[in-house]
Amino acid sequence: MKLQFRESLSWLHTWSGLVLGLAIALFAITGAGLVLRPNLDVFVNRHLLAVPACNAPRPLDRLVRDAERAYPNGEFRAVEITADPTASLAVRFADDTYVYLNPCSAEILGIKNHYAGFFGTLDWLHRFRFIGNPEHDLSGKITGGLITAVFLVLLIVGGLLLWWPRTRGEWKNAAAFQWRRRGSARTLSLHKVVGLYSALLLLLITLTALPLSFQPFRDLIGWATNSPVASAPPPGLSRPAHGKPLPLQELWQLAEARVGDIAWASLYRPAATSAVAEVEILQRGAPHANAKSFLYLNAYNGETIRLSRYATGMPAGRKVYLYLLALHSGLVGGLGYQLLLLLAVLGIPVQVYSGASVWLRRKFRKAPPAATLRLRLVRKMKEAESIASFEFTHPDGRSLPPFSAGSHIDVTPLPGLTRQYSLCNDPNDTHRYVIAVLRCADSRGGSQAMHEVLKAGDLVEVSVPRNHFPLAHSAARSLLIAGGIGITPILCMAERLANGGADFRLHYCMRSRGQAAFLERIAASDFARRAQLHVSDEGTRLDIDALLDSEPRDSHLYICGPAGFMDAVIAAAAARGWPETLIHREYFAAAAHDSARDTAFDVRIASTGQTIRVERDETAVVALARQGILIPTSCSEGVCGTCVTRVIEGEIEHNDVFLTGEERARNDQFTPCCSRARSPLLVLDL
Ligand code: FES
Repeated sequence: MKLQFRESLSWLHTWSGLVLGLAIALFAITGAGLVLRPNLDVFVNRHLLAVPACNAPRPLDRLVRDAERAYPNGEFRAVEITADPTASLAVRFADDTYVYLNPCSAEILGIKNHYAGFFGTLDWLHRFRFIGNPEHDLSGKITGGLITAVFLVLLIVGGLLLWWPRTRGEWKNAAAFQWRRRGSARTLSLHKVVGLYSALLLLLITLTALPLSFQPFRDLIGWATNSPVASAPPPGLSRPAHGKPLPLQELWQLAEARVGDIAWASLYRPAATSAVAEVEILQRGAPHANAKSFLYLNAYNGETIRLSRYATGMPAGRKVYLYLLALHSGLVGGLGYQLLLLLAVLGIPVQVYSGASVWLRRKFRKAPPAATLRLRLVRKMKEAESIASFEFTHPDGRSLPPFSAGSHIDVTPLPGLTRQYSLCNDPNDTHRYVIAVLRCADSRGGSQAMHEVLKAGDLVEVSVPRNHFPLAHSAARSLLIAGGIGITPILCMAERLANGGADFRLHYCMRSRGQAAFLERIAASDFARRAQLHVSDEGTRLDIDALLDSEPRDSHLYICGPAGFMDAVIAAAAARGWPETLIHREYFAAAAHDSARDTAFDVRIASTGQTIRVERDETAVVALARQGILIPTSCSEGVCGTCVTRVIEGEIEHNDVFLTGEERARNDQFTPCCSRARSPLLVLDL
């Protein structure tokens, strides 16, 4: 399917569902109730419908008179008789009100309108009777019901086309609910699977509703079968000038004798000027509840005017129409078909909810607002050779958002130049953020600007703190290892652990004491005796292997420093079988990435199916942003983890230093700011 066609279809599918969702859900929920009405009515309205077995009912005329007395303002229309001796007798009035009687005792069991009560209200809503005449005609006005039905067909067919897998490998996933997915991808999987399995039945229900509600579709059946669809009008026969009509009881006995094997019948009183009494009959063994025969009697002499038996005298068009009605209402196929219909229609509210939810999440999914502060640099102090500390406070003296040990902030020393720096002051400080910055010889501008451009008194854009390097407070013991400027988060952690009385050791590695920050602060701290300095110039270089060999295997390791130093510690820990979950790391910069081998690949948005090309010389973040899909980023080089995005399908090429080896091996998330794909396509949980 061409991408443009797919996108148009997706647009139509989405907006049909959003605009008509409520109407469709109303049809579905009320329809679900009506499917079960024939079975449940017997229990819900047992007091009206059931009587003790009655084998000697009173004459119908007497029962109808009693009913008329009970409902004096009603105009008698028909009496409904059931062959079952434990069923009540229903006398129907012109306004669809029924009076229910015990046919043996003539006791009035109750009066109820067809559209009253729980099921009656469902029926009233399902037929859209609140907008007036339930019979709608294209020659009159195009009604909401017809528009809804047409769009429902479009929704179902369009949804199936959108669902249709494009490759063989996708079939298995497409037909099964992907419960492992998260967020909108999981909701979308639910939407697709429920839609797939209910589509055929929903199409059937929708198409069979059309001839029931709209004359042009009935005409279509008549044209296709070349026979009438409407019930044949009663034969014309005027009432005689003299004489009285036969009693209802006598007419009923004539019907029983002439048709036989009656399970249910409705005996209509003749119209004011007519002599014709109509009897609508359902015989035992009829193929469905609408397979009715019609008997027309001369109400004055009892002669049969016409008998249209369903089996032999019903035109094909009428039969097709009645069968469609039975299919739509669940009156064929027994309880199994009713339950299938019920499940299918209950799937519609699920579809409306899941479709709207995916759309809303996508529509209002934005990059988190830039939570930045404008802070004053109140102190800039040399801490060691090429290292300066920077202290920021609020210009109005207000408290700052809190942070925890291991947190970092984004600092923007120049417009468009943002860098991440770990906080190294006590997390209990509520009024200041302190960072320390090493001026790198190969600075890409960040540390150079911090050292050379910023001066005390400047207002600087600073983000609220975020923590990708948190302490595991449940650790029995912690081993903190810092290399050079990596002491910044580690120092904060040591102070936090010391304050909490935790068991830990600090190892601080440096080339020379002149290049090491915070030596005095460490020497003066409560944990000075638990801190060990390793100075290369003094020949006290850290023996990583010896240190790890002496450390219990359940210690949590925290490592921060130059990439080579960190990689060496992590490799040594891994070689000793240290669990990944106990190794915590914070890189300052990503390892150099050779982009010469980069190739283009596609990313697909799981919630919409939209496919976006990522060219070889751009990142996935840039390609997504071009299509209006914004992924929040910070470092843009795979260090901070701000952009981490779930991946549902495809093979990832990880170019970051943020994810652990275990997380990479799971192949279910990546950093789109720098990582790419090994496979031609990555499906993203967006
Ligand atoms: S933005 Fe920092 S890892 Fe992607």
